[in-house]
Amino acid sequence: MTVRIYRDKEFELLEGVYDPGDDSFLLVEAALKDIRAGEKVLEVGTGSGVVSFFVKDVTRVIATDINPIACQNARLNGVEVVRTDLFSGICGQFDVIIFNPPYLPTSEDEKLDTWLNRAFDGGPDGRDVIRQFLAGVKRILPIGGRVLTVFSSLTDIDAVAELYRQHGFSVETVAREKVPFEVLVVFKCVRLS
Ligand SMILES: C[S@@+](CC[C@H](N)C(=O)[O-])C[C@H]1O[C@@H](n2cnc3c(N)ncnc32)[C@H](O)[C@@H]1O
Repeated sequence: MTVRIYRDKEFELLEGVYDPGDDSFLLVEAALKDIRAGEKVLEVGTGSGVVSFFVKDVTRVIATDINPIACQNARLNGVEVVRTDLFSGICGQFDVIIFNPPYLPTSEDEKLDTWLNRAFDGGPDGRDVIRQFLAGVKRILPIGGRVLTVFSSLTDIDAVAELYRQHGFSVETVAREKVPFEVLVVFKCVRLS
């Protein structure tokens, strides 16, 4: 187990779980700017639980992950987590869904044979998990609800925006950061229809 520090707060990181990076922290900051006390929040794919770890100081958060070690890690960090595929084990409606998806274009020979593969493998174009997410998310997100989500330029930002629009969401860029080899972007997507 390793200890990480962000915003002067320590949180735990287990081996086999996504090590929070620039994308995680960009999403933490965007979420803290956007989310208000009393809102119902779901984080999909919580990993170590880092984003929920900070957002739960503002309002209650339920989180999910498919990786059992990530679920154990998030619980260590005090995050309420359900092990499930995306949100399939989740009932009810949320005001906000937070998601740092696996978004890297990944070929067969780049895949790992461990749970960590789930942290980055977005399929051939990086957008497979985003498509699965959008195909079902309206069950738990009413009209007016919003998704805060982070992507890389490697995923094709315009193509991701177009997917959200095709599913009836507005798309606003609320954070952007240039890091070596890519640009990271946080979208706030509001369900319109
Ligand atoms: C890029 S990591 C982000 C982790 C954490 N939210 C962060 O920002 O540091 C993506 C996370 O999504 C999880 N994940 C991938 N596919 C999933 C699925 N179908 N259902 C639930 N979680 C999934 C992975 O196990 C991983 O923990």
